[in-house]
Amino acid sequence: MLMARQLRSRTRNGVPLRMLILGAPGAGKGTQSSRIRQHFGITAISSGDVLRRNIALGTEAGMLAQRAVSRGELVSDGLIVDLIRNELASLALNNWLLDGFPRTITQAQALDAMLKSAGQSLNAVVNLAVPEDVILQRIVERYVHVPSGRVYNLSYNPPKVSGRDDVTGEPLEHRPDDNPESFRRRLQQYHQVTEPLLDYYKRTGILTAFAGTTSDIIFPQLHAYMDARFD
Ligand code: AP5
Ligand code: MG
Repeated sequence: MLMARQLRSRTRNGVPLRMLILGAPGAGKGTQSSRIRQHFGITAISSGDVLRRNIALGTEAGMLAQRAVSRGELVSDGLIVDLIRNELASLALNNWLLDGFPRTITQAQALDAMLKSAGQSLNAVVNLAVPEDVILQRIVERYVHVPSGRVYNLSYNPPKVSGRDDVTGEPLEHRPDDNPESFRRRLQQYHQVTEPLLDYYKRTGILTAFAGTTSDIIFPQLHAYMDARFD
């Protein structure tokens, strides 16, 4: 069995972890990020969770993003780049991983520029490759706790008490963009705009793909990949 442990603060070559998790909507990015957070103590930032929190709080960014998110369309590059820049600024030299950002080549270039100005660069990019029919079934069964971003699935990881978050006991919700129409749009956008990022990162030589139909198959591979990067 895989043991949870806290990482030392740096990767093997002495720099903080700067990692991306890529994958189609529903591929399990949030699920794998939260396991990495639990096992390795790494801060995981999900762009979708950041947007949903802003929408729930009624911030200016949230109001601008609301319509696009519920329709399954991407929000503007400028809006999401600013939100992610703020999130990363508060993390300084801590290890971090990003789930759902970047989603376009423009966002990838903005991230490269942010890192360059801090004298850093990405050192791990992971792609989760999961068949589309598996993804569709998962989405139907997904419930989320919006304030924390915790994800549940009725058959795979159900909450201890039906309809309630395990930690706070607060109610769980279906995401408004988990309806068939929005989901179809999200998948289309992924293929048109986000998939080309795989070539972008392949060229850097730091892209690793993990394929499988369940996160239980993927996570042990991901765990070994992370272990190899840390003392
Ligand atoms: P976002 O929240 O990032 O959504 P997404 O990319 O569509 O991905 P999901 O969160 O739906 O899936 P996931 O890969 O995290 O899978 P999960 O772990 O939940 O973005 C939402 C929206 O925000 C976008 O549409 C866009 O509008 C906007 N946005 C976000 N970032 C943006 C950006 N950079 N630029 C512009 N706009 C942006 O798993 C899925 C389900 O499967 C769960 O129910 C889970 O429990 C289940 N599951 C996981 N593993 C298993 C398993 N082994 N077996 C069975 N079920 C499993
Ligand atoms: Mg997610």
